[in-house]
This record gives sequence, C-alpha cells and structure tokens, in this order.
Amino acid sequence: MNRGIRQMNVLDAIKTRRSIRKYTSEKVDPSLLEKVLEAGRLAPSAHNKQPWHFVVATTPQAVEKVKNAYVGRTEINAPVFIVVCADPKEAWVREVDGEEFWKIDASIAMQNMILAATELGLGTCWIGAFKEKALKRALKIPRRIRIVAITPLGYPAVKKGEVVDRKPLSQIVHYEHW
Ligand SMILES: Cc1cc2nc3c(=O)[nH]c(=O)nc-3n(C[C@H](O)[C@H](O)[C@H](O)COP(=O)(O)O)c2cc1C
Repeated sequence: MNRGIRQMNVLDAIKTRRSIRKYTSEKVDPSLLEKVLEAGRLAPSAHNKQPWHFVVATTPQAVEKVKNAYVGRTEINAPVFIVVCADPKEAWVREVDGEEFWKIDASIAMQNMILAATELGLGTCWIGAFKEKALKRALKIPRRIRIVAITPLGYPAVKKGEVVDRKPLSQIVHYEHW
C-alpha cells in the first residue's frame, strides 16, 4: 500500500508520537526503514564519536529472537525490530569525572529514529525491558557492545491520540533568578 509521507514538522511529530504495541502484518518498505536508520545515523553525539550500532531484525526468525528477550507484560508483534547498541570503547568519556556518554548518544539516535518513523506513518515503542545478555547471545552481538534500547517498527494497528499525560511545565521548569 502506498501511504505517502505526511508533511509533518518536528513539533507535530513530538506531539503525535505514541508508544505503539500493536502492529498490522504489513511489511515496511526497505526505503522507509533506511530513512529511519538514516535519522539515527545523523544524530549528534558527544565529541561526534557516534558509538552506536543498529541491529535490524526483519526476518521472522530474527524478530522472534528479539521478542523472546522482551520481558514486558504484553507481546509486541511487529514486522521489524531495531536493536540500538553502543560500544562504550568508541564513546566519549568526560575527563573531569569519568562520566560515560554511550547511553546518552545511543538514546539520541533512538529518539531521532522514533521521530522520523512518526513522520513516515510508522509506529515505534521504546523498549527498555529486555534481557540484555540473552539477546546479545541470540543475535551474536560481541561482548563489549551494550544494548541500550529496542523498538518495534511497523504500521500501527491501533489509533492513539496526541500525547497528553505529562506533567505541566509549572512542575518541571525551574527558573533561576539571581
Ligand atoms: C526509556 C524507556 C523505556 C521504556 N520501556 C518500555 C518497555 O519495556 N515496554 C513498553 O511497553 N513500553 C516502554 N516504554 C514506553 C513508555 O511506557 C511510554 O513512553 C510512556 O508510557 C508514555 O506513553 P507514550 O509513549 O505513548 O507517550 C519505555 C519508554 C522509555 C522512554
């Protein structure tokens, strides 16, 4: 099915992106998948180290491996899963206190992909509840690489409204006056 690409600015994508846990069986065109991955590639990273690696599961066997590592309550069925990884050895470490930035860098790439997918009419869901060791084994991911997040990717089988359940700015913004 040719769905076309909706014209959407970044703020629209931020407002309409929701976690999608139910997908149709419709395949994701490789050109769309590539656009999503490209959005991840273009993400900023500390000292531009780009420590990320994206492992993409598109075959039923690979998808099954990712699903098996998920420890959330409800099963998530999607035609594609993206496993966002980082190599801590490739990432910047802040000299003054040893703070490591690989998780932040990979998270930014993940959010870039999520927002790009939203513009392309594709659903995603940030998944943090997974068995990292088991998934690394199943996908033959080298020991030094860390898995930061997973997202399913596909066409939503559910319609969700805009983001609403967030704390108001008055609770979370703190203007410093001095
Ligand atoms: C770091 C992170 C980890 C998450 N892990 C999971 C998860 O393991 N399973 C899941 O179903 N949703 C997960 N979510 C999705 C959140 O539950 C969801 O973003 C939140 O409830 C707000 O809903 P919305 O994304 O539809 O706006 C995660 C989100 C984030 C940002």
